[in-house]
Amino acid sequence: MSTTSVPRIFLLRAGSSPPGRDKRDAPVRFRSRPHAAISTNAYWRKPSGKHRLAHKSSQDPPRTIAVCFSLSLSLATTTAACAAMDAATSTTLLYGALLAAAFLYVATLRRGRGRGEGGLPPGPRGLPLLGSLLSLDPDLHTYFAGLADKYGPIFSIRLGSKLGIVITSPALAREVLRDNDLIFSNRDIPDAARSISYGGGQNIVWNPVGPTWRLLRRVCVREMLSPAGLQNVHGLRRREFRATLAHLHSMASAGKPVDVGAQMFLTTMNVITGTLWGGNIGTESERTAVGKEFRELVAEITEMLGAPNVSDFFPALAPFDLQGIRKKSDALKERFDEIFGRIIEKRVEADQAGADTAEDFLEYMLKMEKEGGDGKAAFTMTNVKALLMDMVVGGTETTSNTVEWAMAEMLQNRRILRKVQEELDAVVGIDGVVEESDLPQLHYLQLVVKETLRLHPALPLMVPHCPSEDTTVGGHRVPAGSRVFVNAWAIMRDPAAWKDPAKFIPERFASQASDGDGGRKVDFTGSELDYVPFGSGRRICAGIAMAERMTAYSVAMLLQAFDWELPEGAALDLTEKFGIVMKKATPLVAVPTPRLSRPELYSA
Ligand code: HEM
Repeated sequence: MSTTSVPRIFLLRAGSSPPGRDKRDAPVRFRSRPHAAISTNAYWRKPSGKHRLAHKSSQDPPRTIAVCFSLSLSLATTTAACAAMDAATSTTLLYGALLAAAFLYVATLRRGRGRGEGGLPPGPRGLPLLGSLLSLDPDLHTYFAGLADKYGPIFSIRLGSKLGIVITSPALAREVLRDNDLIFSNRDIPDAARSISYGGGQNIVWNPVGPTWRLLRRVCVREMLSPAGLQNVHGLRRREFRATLAHLHSMASAGKPVDVGAQMFLTTMNVITGTLWGGNIGTESERTAVGKEFRELVAEITEMLGAPNVSDFFPALAPFDLQGIRKKSDALKERFDEIFGRIIEKRVEADQAGADTAEDFLEYMLKMEKEGGDGKAAFTMTNVKALLMDMVVGGTETTSNTVEWAMAEMLQNRRILRKVQEELDAVVGIDGVVEESDLPQLHYLQLVVKETLRLHPALPLMVPHCPSEDTTVGGHRVPAGSRVFVNAWAIMRDPAAWKDPAKFIPERFASQASDGDGGRKVDFTGSELDYVPFGSGRRICAGIAMAERMTAYSVAMLLQAFDWELPEGAALDLTEKFGIVMKKATPLVAVPTPRLSRPELYSA
């Protein structure tokens, strides 16, 4: 059975206080260890093949140095960039920007004075101007969990001139995401996201709550991502899954290893793009080429969104784009825009020629664009492209990484893998291929998906929220405009809520549980604030229905049709790599062996 890390904040709490807002959330109880000793639990694997918990300091020198280095590099880049301008203008601009940043810093410090009850939440003091920037660990989810050990389930951290507020308990997550839902439902847009999402006001993810956001969400959730909308394109998913099956079979026949995440990314991408604009973008090879290009683009975009950016820490310096992140993001956006433009143009031409075009999501959006919106908000061609971007970026890596984690956990826990296969054999057998319609009967498989999302939430800190006005959480002031992180990763490992929280135990969700938590009933609606893989409240994930089907169907197909082994001499690595979308640090590569009764069953 695997053991992954439990945030120390919960280890401190466990056993010493019952769950409940008053005691568990009292910040004064958590302040014992000096900063240098803060440890975050990292997951690593001994060469012997056994997993164990390791403690790594949140001040881990090489990684801290890496962040410092990247910041110093930015300052060096500024100088280089300035050299290209007229010397006097650049010096004036640079000094002006630094002065503005310093002014903002002092102003926010003054506002934040008086930490403690009724004041800002406690937190590390940090350096003048830079705040805690130089001690940030790139694995923010574990770094924040380590700080929560020391400062409590709500703490504040200054990152340049930005104030971050980090929430690490179900009770406080409820205050933020449910009780004060409307106040906290805006976003603090990173500079890269502003560029990628056509300015921030055009798509769902980065739009503030208002008529446009409501219209866009309604369009997506009702038309594309509702159970009925998904049912309409069930044939498309079946086709894509059969194509994947055939490809995996050819790999298996050749004894070749498969990069599970990469393969599932392509399948998910094809399903999502197929749902968006059907099969009308050209030949099969053109479609494969688009899928491949998207994969690279999505990976680069999520990397840009997760990269520490001086423009976000010091918005006054954003016009200088010191690290060139804005420039790179603009270029990525342009590449996407060009592909979307091509697809839309083809469709519009086909419509004008009176061709019999598909009744897909693109067709619906183009009709809506012609009508100009819903009377409360406009709907333009930019909204069409921004929504396409939301679906492609928000839906692909999240889903395929979850499948990859599920497979990795089961290769680590063979008993669970066998149990899923036994269920598949009982429900489907080996003389046919699993269908989406079999999923409701695959109860144990559903538990595996739930447990995977608990232990490895695709968005460990969700998408940061931003309060529209000053408000109070857990007795502390949370100023308007601060960046609020809800540490879903840490909350879903709270020992007060979960027995053996670091272990992969799907049975904890079974109604007749013999192990784990005695039959915890959870769903994906975010009503239980200790189980929030998709968030909770107004900004909850818009694609839950699709994510649920895609992950379950993928795992079912992979395990019904194949047995899986690691390549000779390879070791399983379950280390996480933080990003806005969390990844496995090393891709899961495994060798499939066919287990269906006849080879013809694998033909697409
Ligand atoms: C396993 C897969 C997935 C996971 C774990 C996941 C998780 C999340 C989370 C945690 C949020 C942020 C909630 C918040 O900030 O409070 C979110 C937002 C969002 N997700 Fe997902 N997601 C997944 C798949 C998808 C898919 C397949 C789509 C669409 C095709 C999608 C579309 C969106 C959109 C549009 C938002 C923004 C909602 C808003 O801001 O109003 N997601 N997702």
